[in-house]
Amino acid sequence: MSLKRRRFISLGSFSFVNFIKDGFIKSGPIKFGPAYLAGSITTFNPPIFASSLRSQISTNKESNKNDLLLRFTSVADTGTGGDGQYSVAQSMINYRRQNPYDLVILAGDNIYTNGEIEKINSVFECPYASLLKQGVKFYAVLGNHDIRTANGEPQVKYFGFNMQGRYYTFHRGPVQFFALDTNRNADWQNQLLWLEKELSNSKAIWKIIFGHHQIYSSGVYGVNKPFIDVLTPLFKKYGVQLYINGHEHNYERTRPINGTTYIVCGGGATTRPVGRSEWTEYSASKLSFAAYNVYADRIEISGIGTDNEVFDRGIISLKSSHLLVKSGLI
Ligand SMILES: [Fe+2]
Repeated sequence: MSLKRRRFISLGSFSFVNFIKDGFIKSGPIKFGPAYLAGSITTFNPPIFASSLRSQISTNKESNKNDLLLRFTSVADTGTGGDGQYSVAQSMINYRRQNPYDLVILAGDNIYTNGEIEKINSVFECPYASLLKQGVKFYAVLGNHDIRTANGEPQVKYFGFNMQGRYYTFHRGPVQFFALDTNRNADWQNQLLWLEKELSNSKAIWKIIFGHHQIYSSGVYGVNKPFIDVLTPLFKKYGVQLYINGHEHNYERTRPINGTTYIVCGGGATTRPVGRSEWTEYSASKLSFAAYNVYADRIEISGIGTDNEVFDRGIISLKSSHLLVKSGLI
């Protein structure tokens, strides 16, 4: 892939990105090696096996630190309707049997190749039928393929994606989620104003942002310098602990970078090569999804393959949030 230059246009207190083409800038050395590249893995105790997720959900700040407050999963680049998507979907179904969850973050490229909403049955409703039937809610964002038909509007309106717009926020337990439209034609000016306002008003202990495009990545597209310049200062300023994305068709987990961990979970239907960078904790070119157990003091992250095995485990500690440390809250 050739490098593509992007331009920033300064507007008021913000810059916004004028993307020239799909796919974002690749910078820094990306080393491709074996498909399975182990980094330093933080281990944790096995997740709590619960008969009922509802019984475990508590927002009581005084709750025991081992009380599970929320479990959710994320997956991206899913919308093929092919064998790979069905394999990952089955693995998500299998995982849920012993690890109940009712929330999935769907991080874009929901309908290949051109976001044709008439394919929704074959690329979403059928592959995830079992989850949907059991009340699992998917919260989606738009990928670059999704905007190729009517700029993605049919997907924004599709009830199964639970989108409250092209960018939106919602709460679950102790987490506030922020969904972004990371496409080149997004309304960057207003979206960034909205994001800063929502982040500054947020009282949530855990702040998680998701969008389709990568920021820190060792995949095919690589590091996204414009997003590092525009988005990550807000992450740092307001203590965002986690950013979840797809676009790269692999799994990658970074160490916290200025307090934010970056998870790529774009192996939802197909795979591409991935290398590793100095901030990579783990990367793998695997059909996979990610699962998250949220506690009062930590988020445990698992990368799970189509063999139903957890191939990566990591922890985000609330103590790693520089904002809370700085403000004396912990
Ligand atoms: Fe994409």
